[in-house]
This record gives sequence, C-alpha cells and structure tokens, in this order.
Amino acid sequence: MSEPLIRLRNIDFSYNGRQPVLAGCDFSLQPGQRLALIGPNGSGKTTLLHLAVGLLRPNVGSIEAFGKVRRNEADFHEVRRRAGLLFQEADDQLFCPTVAEDVAFGPLNLGKHRDEVRRIVARVLHALGLEGYQQRITYKLSGGEKRLVTLATVLAMEPEVLLLDEPVSALDDEATGRLVEILAGLPQAMIVVSHDREFLQRTTGSTVRLHGGKVERIC
Ligand SMILES: Nc1ncnc2c1ncn2[C@@H]1O[C@H](COP(=O)(O)OP(=O)(O)OP(=O)(O)O)[C@@H](O)[C@H]1O
Ligand SMILES: [Mg+2]
Repeated sequence: MSEPLIRLRNIDFSYNGRQPVLAGCDFSLQPGQRLALIGPNGSGKTTLLHLAVGLLRPNVGSIEAFGKVRRNEADFHEVRRRAGLLFQEADDQLFCPTVAEDVAFGPLNLGKHRDEVRRIVARVLHALGLEGYQQRITYKLSGGEKRLVTLATVLAMEPEVLLLDEPVSALDDEATGRLVEILAGLPQAMIVVSHDREFLQRTTGSTVRLHGGKVERIC
C-alpha cells in the first residue's frame, strides 16, 4: 500500500482534561481514497478532523500528513493549505462581508492573480448553483445557502485532500444532487462525515466508524 496522505497514530485526546474523546485511535487516508467517517453524535468525528489539520493537538500520539510528521504551527499551516476542511458550522468558515470576498479569500491568500481568482470564484459559484450570489451579504444568507458558500470556499482552494464535515446538513435534494455530481468529478481523496447514509453511498467507497474513541473499519 502507498504512503497515507493523512495518518493519525495512537492518538489520545480529551478537551481540557475531561473524559477522553479519542483513546489509542489509529486512522489513515490513502491517496485517491473516498472515505466515509461515521459515528454517533459526540463520538469524535469533528474532533478527529480538527486534529488532522492541527486545530487541536493530541495529548498522546502523532499526526502525519503528506509524508511528514507534523508537530508545530508551521507544519500544520502547510497542512491546512493542502487539505481543505469544511467546518461543520458554516459560521466558523465565513468571515468576509460578501460571498465573492469569502470565496476569493483562500485563492488570493495562495498568491493567485486577481483575474484568475475572479474566474475561479465564478466557476465554483456556477458549479454550486450560486450564480448571482457574489454580492450577497454572507451573514444574511439562509442555512443552506451558507452551507453552499462554505463548500465554494473550500473547492476554490483546489486542495489536495477534502475533509468535509457534514456537507449536506442543511441542503435540499437538488443541492445535494449537485454536490454528489461535483464530488464525483473531483480526483481528490476525501473524508466525508455525514449522518446521511444515501449521500455517503453515492460519494464514498469505504467506511470507517468512530466507536469508543477508536476508528473501526466497516467496509
Ligand atoms: N470545545 C469543546 N470543549 C469541550 N468538549 C467538547 C468540545 N468540542 C466537542 N466536545 C465534546 O467532545 C465530544 C466529541 O465531539 P465531536 O464534536 O468531535 O463529535 P461528533 O462526532 O463530531 O458529533 P456530531 O455528530 O454531533 O457532530 C463530545 O462529547 C463533545 O461534547
Ligand atoms: Mg461533528
């Protein structure tokens, strides 16, 4: 097997000394793999994604990404440029006044030219059915609209890996179908967290479950 894109080894994690969320947890994402991460509410799915990109640090264990052990903020800064995390809460992802500014923020930050960024913004908004939303005020959008804009901000970065935390939680059937098609057309490896079995079946090839602080392989 080739080297994993992301690997968590023997991770213990708890929030502020509370009871452990992850305990002796091993996890890996292989190149090209489309992995569903399931588990009940509070089992640690969001926590695992945040550990993978360094928004949280483990109490015990190590995190490897893109072939290197990652320890400090500089290491994880690079990981976050290469792995696009869709936050479970849309409001954690959006911080610019308008939709166009939010979607442009990442590509501009990567040093892309303004003209290219304009094209990227138009392309991802079109793909997600958000034409005409460029000048809309982000905080005044509906829950589902915000979810789509957050997806646009992640896709606009063209990350090497997608980490999607409940991407269809507020989406209607049409928007969900559009997202299924978009994801099917992308080459990237991805981890998809969702409670929507049908969506997972349509977008992922294998499944793991968080249970008792550990990741178990299902299929
Ligand atoms: N910032 C925090 N401080 C303290 N405890 C937290 C914090 N965030 C999460 N937790 C707790 O850690 C556990 C795991 O939370 P997490 O959000 O990772 O679960 P999840 O599997 O993503 O759940 P859901 O399906 O509801 O999104 C839960 O018991 C939760 O209450
Ligand atoms: Mg969660």
